[in-house]
Amino acid sequence: MAKAEKIIVTGGAGYIGSHTVVALVESGFEPVIVDDFSNADHKVHERLETITGKNLALYEGDCNDMDFMQEVIEKEGSITGIIHFAAFKAVGESVEKPLAYYKNNIGSLLVLLELMQRYAIDNFVFSSSCTVYGQPDKLPVTEDTPKKPAESPYGNTKQVCEEIIEDFVKSAGQFKAISLRYFNPIGAHPSSLIGELPLGIPSNLVPFVTQTAAGLREKLVVFGDDYDTTDGTCIRDYIHVVDLAKAHVKAISFIQESQKAKLYEVFNLGTGKGNSVLEVIKTFETVTGEQLNYEIGPRRSGDVEQVYASVDKSNEILGWQAELDLAQALKDAWNWQKTL
Ligand code: UD1
Repeated sequence: MAKAEKIIVTGGAGYIGSHTVVALVESGFEPVIVDDFSNADHKVHERLETITGKNLALYEGDCNDMDFMQEVIEKEGSITGIIHFAAFKAVGESVEKPLAYYKNNIGSLLVLLELMQRYAIDNFVFSSSCTVYGQPDKLPVTEDTPKKPAESPYGNTKQVCEEIIEDFVKSAGQFKAISLRYFNPIGAHPSSLIGELPLGIPSNLVPFVTQTAAGLREKLVVFGDDYDTTDGTCIRDYIHVVDLAKAHVKAISFIQESQKAKLYEVFNLGTGKGNSVLEVIKTFETVTGEQLNYEIGPRRSGDVEQVYASVDKSNEILGWQAELDLAQALKDAWNWQKTL
């Protein structure tokens, strides 16, 4: 790379987006952050500048807004790619507000693709989710595992967005895209300057664990211990957010370097290893020395019993694999929690 390539990162002040901004800078890219701060803190920008030691372009606004996004592209000039994180992501909320989810998550994608076509920006990386697999028949899950009907409007937006991107790639000349299917992102940057900032009561396991250990929640409820797994609790593939962030750099580099037009690929991003809820709790207690107040409760509706990734494709084609383990991720999540 002679001159730093400019990449727009929508949702660049959010949890995975902010870690990806760091990874992009570390690899010589020039990220341009776009965020409406509906689910991010304004402090993230200066913290990213502290971590990276760079001035980072930031545009505050909604990527559903065509005029705003057009202005960003025109002002910046020479954008070579977009990594699109900005989206609503609460599964439960999506059931209550499906229209808001469809409008926001699909609307923003359409705006970006239209502008990419207009400005000949040919490289696109999309945040997708392992939710597209539902409860797969075979484990670990490979990328060609058939998708199951979505369990929630949120999950459906990920499926529909993947389909829209695939259709668009087929129609467009030079356009190339990758969808990254995240398993369960956890952890925080080792500096403890950025991490996950859940709004209100967290619905995800690890923020609930760290908030309980910090005394902000009374106890953690384990959603069911009567599943057909080793200890009866659900199994997930927990991936450190720093590893996940690095995969985005690999993905954008891969499509930029590929000579193949109409390229569309999906990749799983996980560790390839499943851990039960009780294993997460035990590991957390071991690495932090904290005692976690928890009890076994009923199953949560919509939860799949177990899912973990086959990461062979990401490894072989992107040259990426997770380097940090569950213990490290939980340690980093706890160090981050202690700063809040
Ligand atoms: C879900 C979605 C995922 C989405 C993510 C974002 C599915 C299959 N997955 O992940 O696509 O990106 O939410 O929010 O829809 N648990 C407890 N107690 C708690 C919280 C969680 O026992 O208080 C358990 C759950 O039952 C589950 C595991 O912890 O077994 C992980 O849950 P969570 O962090 O919510 O993630 P997923 O449901 O796997």
